[in-house]
Amino acid sequence: MKEIQHFLYGGDYNPNQWDRATWKEDMVYFKDARINSATVNVFSWAKIQPSEHEYDFSELDDIMDMLTREKYQIVLATSTAALPAWMFKKYPEVGRTDFEGRHHKFGQRHNACPNSPIYQKFARRLASKLAERYGDNPQLAYWHINNEYGGECFCENCEKAFRVWLKDKYGTIEALNKAWNLEFWGHTVYEWDEIVLPNALSEGISYENTAFAGISIDYRRFNSDSMLENFKMERDAIREWDKDTPITTNLMGTYRYLDYFKWAKEMDIVSWDSYPAYDTPWSEVALRHDLMRGLKKQPFMLMEQTPSQQNWQPYNSLKKPGQLRAQSYQTIAHGANTIQYFQLRRSIGACEKFHGAVIAHSGTTNTRVFREVKQIGEELEAIGKELLATNIKSKVALIFDWDNYWALEYTSGPNKDLTYVDQIHHIYQYFYYRNIPVDLVSIDDDFSDYQLVLAPVLYMVKEGVAENIEKYVANGGVLVTGFMSGLVDQSDNVYLGGYPGPLRELCGIWVEEIDALAPEQSNQIAWKDGQTGIGTLVSDIIHLETAEALASYDSNFYKGTPAVTVNDYQDGKVYYFGTELDDSLLATLLNEVVSHTEIERQVPDTKLEIISREGKESTFTFIINFTNEDVQIPEMFAGQTDYLTNQTIKDQHELAPFDVLLMKE
Ligand code: GLA
Ligand code: ZN
Repeated sequence: MKEIQHFLYGGDYNPNQWDRATWKEDMVYFKDARINSATVNVFSWAKIQPSEHEYDFSELDDIMDMLTREKYQIVLATSTAALPAWMFKKYPEVGRTDFEGRHHKFGQRHNACPNSPIYQKFARRLASKLAERYGDNPQLAYWHINNEYGGECFCENCEKAFRVWLKDKYGTIEALNKAWNLEFWGHTVYEWDEIVLPNALSEGISYENTAFAGISIDYRRFNSDSMLENFKMERDAIREWDKDTPITTNLMGTYRYLDYFKWAKEMDIVSWDSYPAYDTPWSEVALRHDLMRGLKKQPFMLMEQTPSQQNWQPYNSLKKPGQLRAQSYQTIAHGANTIQYFQLRRSIGACEKFHGAVIAHSGTTNTRVFREVKQIGEELEAIGKELLATNIKSKVALIFDWDNYWALEYTSGPNKDLTYVDQIHHIYQYFYYRNIPVDLVSIDDDFSDYQLVLAPVLYMVKEGVAENIEKYVANGGVLVTGFMSGLVDQSDNVYLGGYPGPLRELCGIWVEEIDALAPEQSNQIAWKDGQTGIGTLVSDIIHLETAEALASYDSNFYKGTPAVTVNDYQDGKVYYFGTELDDSLLATLLNEVVSHTEIERQVPDTKLEIISREGKESTFTFIINFTNEDVQIPEMFAGQTDYLTNQTIKDQHELAPFDVLLMKE
């Protein structure tokens, strides 16, 4: 596989929206900003295939020639994420049917039915033609299939394909009836063609609610698989012509609808688009990067970020001076080996005309944004390739699982405020604020290299999961889990015999009931050393079996019963928290947990984000200030040289808001 030997710096480039004089200007401006790559052909299907039997690559040829001549690395997209109008007109089936059951007309993008044979035929053919034509271009760095796969389709073709998918999964109609618990409300089916898709016309109540979570979760799995098949189809078409250019598609962080762990197995490299809102905590941005790195446990590409504002958020604030730079280095620190923007030149019309870009509507380089882009470009050019061969080393694994994501949020009761990513983020923050690196891992990962495995809200325990965790703990591992864990199997059917089902022996407890707390309600919690705090969201009513209590409820009718427990299980330990602990109690718990591991804090307490990427020859340490004030950097760094500015770090050196230091050892 081809490997790029320098930091890719560039972004989405749509010269097709501009005249040739502007192209010329772009080439000069981009060079000035040290941009060395361009992602092209993302939404050009209508241009390169004006009708069913006609292809016209002349403009794309010119774009490719220009970029090749000017020595840009090219990220070539396949354009299949927005359908041409003629295709809709002639073959309405290529469009999607939405959750409400409305079949869509031509419009928008991400609008293809993944199970339309006609869409598949045209998409495959387009990918193949592009690969045949451009696959041997020496400047071609990556293939970018489609764009931000996502959404859902509930059309007739999808319904038929769903039945095939189910037959393959369950084998018999009896097994399916059992898995979906169709005795409930007399929903038993006898023939495969009685099965319908779970949208608003059937079991779906809303996007978040369903009468049968088992059906809706299977639909999500199927929908994710359907789009993945689309990706694989284009990938394989490209591979017939081009054996060695890595192939990716741009993912979206904690995006709900696609099982990215499954996707990543089919991708040569993970790439993703990072669009935090003005109020997204930096810890959550970091979590998303860690998840994207975790998909393959490898560095990833940042395929898109805005140089300044967005257009599609409710409030599209400008990035403050220095923020783009700080955000870019945070991205790199968490594993990115490219920085790419959406987009290089700002559009004049349609909904993205106010979306930030490297070149603004003024058409000059004399802008604050351009200067910042250029500064980052110069710095990345100087960093060179050594950084590319490094990665984050973590002893903490935090499980992220899309089946759990879906199941937890679909389940009816006990508390509607239970949202998956918030729960993952809550526990992640403890480590983030202590600068302890975390790997986001899949549920079937081999945990043996980790000192600590965190499995919050492990609601769905699929086949093999409990055994995998048991093996880890039995061999001396430390596990943290808690409320809403061990409750259901892969079909959302409850494990009988007492919660937390297959995790009961591991946790050494029995949960008899689960109380729900409304936003204005909370329970007092008393830690064994006397510390007090509150628990919210849900409260498990816990009986100790082999575990001991670390904290108990100090209010409500279950006052005095355990709220947090620890259990010795063979050579390891299992911690369980029965309610959402406030930050300070969660810290008390995790302090205790960490003290039973060999996890060592690399840096003392600080408000700065500090994270290292280690390689065979060198270690790069990033220090970033995401606070609003100057912060003194830890003494241990005094005397070292900032790789970005070549300045020596003084004693009591203060880092300004959004400022960054990079150290190399
Ligand atoms: C997404 C898309 C881009 C663009 C940006 C705008 O990430 O992939 O085409 O629309 O959003 O933020
Ligand atoms: Zn469909």
